[in-house]
Parts: sequence; C-alpha cells; structure tokens
Amino acid sequence: MDIVLYSAKDLQEWRQALAAALPEARVHRWSEALDIQADYAVVWKPPAALFAQQRGLRAILSLGAGVNALLADPALPADVPLVRMEDGGMAPQMEEYALYCALSELRRLPHYAAEQRAGRWSPRPLRSRSDLPVAVLGAGVMGRAAARALRAFGFPVGVWSRSPKTLEGLAHFTGEAGLRELLERSRLAIALLPLTADTTGLLDARRLAWLPEGAALVNLARGELVDDEALLAALDSGRLGHAYLDVFASEPLPAGHRFWSHPSISLTPHVAALTPFDAACAQIADKIRRLERGEAIGGVVDRSRGY
Ligand code: NAP
Ligand code: GLV
Repeated sequence: MDIVLYSAKDLQEWRQALAAALPEARVHRWSEALDIQADYAVVWKPPAALFAQQRGLRAILSLGAGVNALLADPALPADVPLVRMEDGGMAPQMEEYALYCALSELRRLPHYAAEQRAGRWSPRPLRSRSDLPVAVLGAGVMGRAAARALRAFGFPVGVWSRSPKTLEGLAHFTGEAGLRELLERSRLAIALLPLTADTTGLLDARRLAWLPEGAALVNLARGELVDDEALLAALDSGRLGHAYLDVFASEPLPAGHRFWSHPSISLTPHVAALTPFDAACAQIADKIRRLERGEAIGGVVDRSRGY
C-alpha cells in the first residue's frame, strides 16, 4: 500500500509517526516529481498539484479536524471520500483552553490586568462558578469535550448544534431561536463550529448583541465565523467585555491588525489544539486498515453539509 503525505508544517515528524503507525505501508513525501500513484493521501494544507498528480486515491485523510480549506480547494477530487481527524489528541487541549477562558472570566483576569497596567488597586466582588453560564457553539467532538469539562468544573453549560441531541447535564439548543435563547443567558460563548456556508459570519453584529452586556466571546474554531468589525465595535463600546481569539480570517494575523493591540482581546496563534503526531497517526492507521478490510469508518465528511 502506498501513502502520499503532505503537511505544510512538521513534515519530517509526520512521516516518522505515520511510518511507525503503519509499518505495512510505504509512506512517500509528496513532491512534484513523485512517480507513483498512491492509494491514500494524508494531508494538511496540500498544494493543488498533489490532487492533480494523484489520480488513484481511495481516500483522503486530513491531519486536522476542520476541513474547510480542503473543501474549498477546486482540485479536491469530488468522488474520493474525505476523512477528518476525530479528536486525535486535540480534545483535551480544547478542554484546557475552554477552562482557561472560563476561569479567566470568572476571576476577572482581563480586568485586573488592565488595572495593573494603570497602577490601580480595585478589588471587585466575589463571583461563583454558577454565576458564569457558558454557551458552547458546536456539539461535536471538540464542543462536547469542552462542554463536559466546563460542566464538571461547576459552570452551567448550554450547547448549540444543528441537530437535536440529549447530552447528560447539558442544556441543548438548536436553530436560530435556540441560539438566541442560549446566548442571551450566557456570560461566555465559545465557538467550536466547523466553517461552512451556514456558519460563515454567524457571529455578526445582530447575534453578538444577543450576549448580555459585558459578556465574553471565545473563538477556537475558524476566524470567518465571526464578523471582525462587529466584534471590534462591540469591544470598543464595552458592550462585550473581552474576546479570546485563537483563529483568524487571515493567518498569520497580519501585522498592524487591530486585534494585535486591542486591550480587550487576548490572542494565540492557532494553537488551541495542536494535532499530536503519535495519537493522530494511530487514528489514521486504524482508519486505513479498516478501509482496507472494507469496514465503515468515522469522520467521513458529508460534503453537502460541509463538515
Ligand atoms: P465536529 O465533530 O464535526 O462537530 C461539529 C459540530 O458543529 C456538530 O455538533 C455540528 O452539529 C455543529 N454544527 C455544524 N454546522 C452547524 C450549524 N450550521 N449550526 C449549528 N451547529 C452546527 O467538529 P469538531 O471535531 O468538534 O471540530 C469543530 C471545529 O473546531 C473544526 O471544524 C475546526 O474548525 C475547529 N478546530 C480548531 C482547532 C484549533 O486549534 N483552533 C483544533 C481543532 C479543531 P451536529 O451535531 O448537529 O452535526
Ligand atoms: C485545526 O485547526 C484543526 O482543524 O484541526
């Protein structure tokens, strides 16, 4: 079995981990000069030339959970199954990030950081975990993990997703009315939705205004879910208290972008959940072996839904 591998970063580490997880396969780094037709492609941000060259693929496996960039690639073959990463060691990191933001809001850390910069001593009243209801947008692998970790820590949590579901200990919401109801009762909203035609620009001025005065927004999914100008206006006016941003419509975030220096924004460079080489390659190896045996696998992208 031949596998063609491309990753825009850490290619050597990925090759070693994949070869170790799948010793029965020949793992080839992709190059324009590659002269074999592989059975599977394992990719992160591949060049269009990879799909133009590889005509015999039986499946394309993404090294990441979000497949919006792959789906937007006109060179992506229409008839080859696209498989996304399901957790692969990322979910615990999302739990950490969600908890960090909730604790930061609970303990008013952005407020005290600003007070420190101003040299002011201004203690604020006690607030308990039950005073900070959290909305998690997305009830997939990442959303459920984050929501459960927050719930276990004592925060009231509501979850919003496309289809109805029952999740123990978590209030669940669907549809536009459900989103409004959930945002209106939450002090913190955490976006963990895939970027699709339906979610692009979802958090615009109208929907951000559903959050209560002083609430905070966290975007751990994709930058294009949020209308940047609407977010900046809400932060500038003080209607929203703080934003924690890991993802941006343009990455790396361009030098001089207002997000870099905004006093009400904390940002990280798309590191909320990094894909660990070994765990991810173990999952890919398992899926490829199942495909070889003709078995069903999880994570096959429904292209009509976009995730
Ligand atoms: P997933 O398992 O596919 O879950 C997606 C969730 O979003 C599902 O609950 C789905 O609803 C919901 N959803 C999709 N479209 C919706 C819509 N129009 N309205 C309401 N809900 C909708 O994905 P995941 O593994 O949790 O990952 C989520 C996203 O996180 C990825 O797509 C990626 O963009 C991002 N991510 C970021 C990082 C990072 O480091 N920043 C790392 C990993 C992932 P249903 O349950 O009804 O299908
Ligand atoms: C990272 O952003 C991913 O989608 O895995």
